[in-house]
Amino acid sequence: MEFKTIIEPFKIHSVAPIAMTTEAQREKFIAEVGYNLFSLESDNVLIDLLTDSGTGAMSRNQWAAIQHGDESYAGSPSWLLFKAAVQNLFPYKHVIPTHQGRAAEKILFTAIGGEGKLIPSNTHFDTTRANIEYSKAEAVDLVIAEGRDPSSLHPFKGNMDLVALEKFINETGVENIPVVMMTITNNSGGGQPVSLENLKGVSAICKKYKIPFFLDACRFAENAWFIREREAGQGDRDVVDIIREIAGLADGMTMSAKKDPLGNIGGWLALNDDDLAGICRNLLILTEGFPTYGGLAGRDLEALAVGLTEVVSHDYLKYRIQSTAYLGNALSKMGIPVVLPIGGHAVYIDAKALLPHIPALQYPGQALAVELYKVGGIRGCEIGTVMFGRKPDGTEVPAAMELVRLAIPRRTYTQSHIDYVIEVCAEVLKRAPKLGGYKITQEPPALRHFTAAFAPL
Ligand code: F0G
Repeated sequence: MEFKTIIEPFKIHSVAPIAMTTEAQREKFIAEVGYNLFSLESDNVLIDLLTDSGTGAMSRNQWAAIQHGDESYAGSPSWLLFKAAVQNLFPYKHVIPTHQGRAAEKILFTAIGGEGKLIPSNTHFDTTRANIEYSKAEAVDLVIAEGRDPSSLHPFKGNMDLVALEKFINETGVENIPVVMMTITNNSGGGQPVSLENLKGVSAICKKYKIPFFLDACRFAENAWFIREREAGQGDRDVVDIIREIAGLADGMTMSAKKDPLGNIGGWLALNDDDLAGICRNLLILTEGFPTYGGLAGRDLEALAVGLTEVVSHDYLKYRIQSTAYLGNALSKMGIPVVLPIGGHAVYIDAKALLPHIPALQYPGQALAVELYKVGGIRGCEIGTVMFGRKPDGTEVPAAMELVRLAIPRRTYTQSHIDYVIEVCAEVLKRAPKLGGYKITQEPPALRHFTAAFAPL
């Protein structure tokens, strides 16, 4: 018998307090920080859904592994455990540990980016795009049309448009494309998975044109679970098997170990190419550290090695994907427009549809995110024109979608926390017609969403 209630497949081992606040207090807190949710003190947040990155709870086995960490500068046994755990899932020849995902991106694009280069992906995440653009290369998103339509029910909305990719390669010239990337799951596009068939298609195109193919694999296990659940012929496979097959289709990967590897910090770059690995290791030494620890302590490497074994548990992944859907489906049922189907690590509210009276350049996503905080102390994250609107040439263009992401930290909140979030969203839905937009009063030259200040219009 299958029961309706999804129980967390763990029990609480250590707790951290949540400080209760009132709406009046939160109105003051958010005004004080220029209406930027990144600038809030997290003690003033009740349910922190800003990100699923590094915010998860570690298991007792991970904490035990931390005690086992060996802090030798070179050749630590903790490094060997980490490397074996990575290669067990992603059997690339070279593993280069970094302190988080963007450090791996910085190293990779310093090595292969640069002026005149173009790098296609289904959708680049913001740090990936920023690192590509910082190298003076251009980041190009070629996700399928359904991936840009929040209400399309396509099961793999993270897929690359293969026809567009091949056309792009022919128009751009192979020599100008140092790598093709695929983000699994597609974070900026709604946490949507990529099918195995599509990954095979991208891999075949890359082989045909002899272009390296790299995965941005932060949420690889969630993506593999979706493949198991949704793709014909995959339902009986172990996710480990699916993950290895995905890895085998690519030539390398960048990784933020703050997501599916269940760490609070960490990342890596892995690849097969000896020459490129050599260049990357030298860059690693310049900014991160010696190649057997990168930006990490031995204890972090150990925690990640254990996390990589826990995240592929079918019980865990079933709970993870179903509990995210529990929130998303509840919001959808009450009439809040959300990106469908519900993604793996987050629920994305379509602020453009919820607040049609607020123009894109008055930031409907920001307006919604601020309101969720004021009403219920929930911190989400705008993924729209604030995040993507400012172009390298200084112009401002509305983003393709105006989303607010409620990202679910792994193994951190219980169903009652999520039931509370659902109640708060119901109240925000009532207030939606009366919400106003925002203007930006101050912004940095790049990645403005982190530090910009806003004022209500
Ligand atoms: N790639 C993707 C798809 C990501 O989602 C992230 C981070 C990164 C790369 C960079 O990794 O943070 O370890 O440097 N995403 C976080 C988020 C920040 O909230 O979605 P990092």
